Amino acid sequence: MKLAPSILAADLADLGGALRLCENGGADLVHCDVMDGRFVPNLTFGIPVIAALAQRTRLPLDVHLMVESPERLLDGYLEAGAAWISVHQEAVLHLDRLLDRIRRGGARAGVAINPATPVETLVDCLDGLDFVLLMSVNPGFAGQAFRARTLDKARRLRTLLVQRGLDHVAIEMDGGIGLDNVHLVVAAGVDVCVAGSAVFGSSDPAAAMRKIRQQARRDAA
Ligand code: DX5
Ligand code: ZN
Repeated sequence: MKLAPSILAADLADLGGALRLCENGGADLVHCDVMDGRFVPNLTFGIPVIAALAQRTRLPLDVHLMVESPERLLDGYLEAGAAWISVHQEAVLHLDRLLDRIRRGGARAGVAINPATPVETLVDCLDGLDFVLLMSVNPGFAGQAFRARTLDKARRLRTLLVQRGLDHVAIEMDGGIGLDNVHLVVAAGVDVCVAGSAVFGSSDPAAAMRKIRQQARRDAA
């Protein structure tokens, strides 16, 4: 499992400190939630913020674009140094074209889907992407309760990928993941777990990351 702490839940006045905690805790990626106040009712990190973060860490930035018309902003986030970029299927008209642009820009291309969007709507673009981000909360805020129905979506997506010989496509899950459910998430076939509050809501975020990783292996042991 790869662990991607979400800095949305960190002390937003000390993002450099949040990056150091991610490094100390052994994070694989740093999840950055970009919100435009339109696709979701919240506003967060613009392109200059992502560029500044990329300068401060060796960890790859996983940029989750919760924005309308992401094609307007894409080049800026690519130039800022995003290593992984996901766009919401619900916010894009020409998904195939956009995924192509992300890959040509040198980043891993992902599609994010809301809890109510079926994974089956992705069957015709699976071979053009590197990862699928399954939202396990409705996007907009950290600290919401995990929606357990998403586990079935992960299982269905894993089956689809295996059937099509696309098992290298990673499944990422985002929202409400923590010590009590990470083992279920991994058992459902998820490769990348995002965790915001479960990491940064802890008094020792680096230790929380290590504990989440241990818990993820619970069923495998
Ligand atoms: C929600 C964001 C998530 C969020 C995760 O819109 O996409 O990445 O920060 O935070 P937790 O783990 O607290 O749900
Ligand atoms: Zn996110």
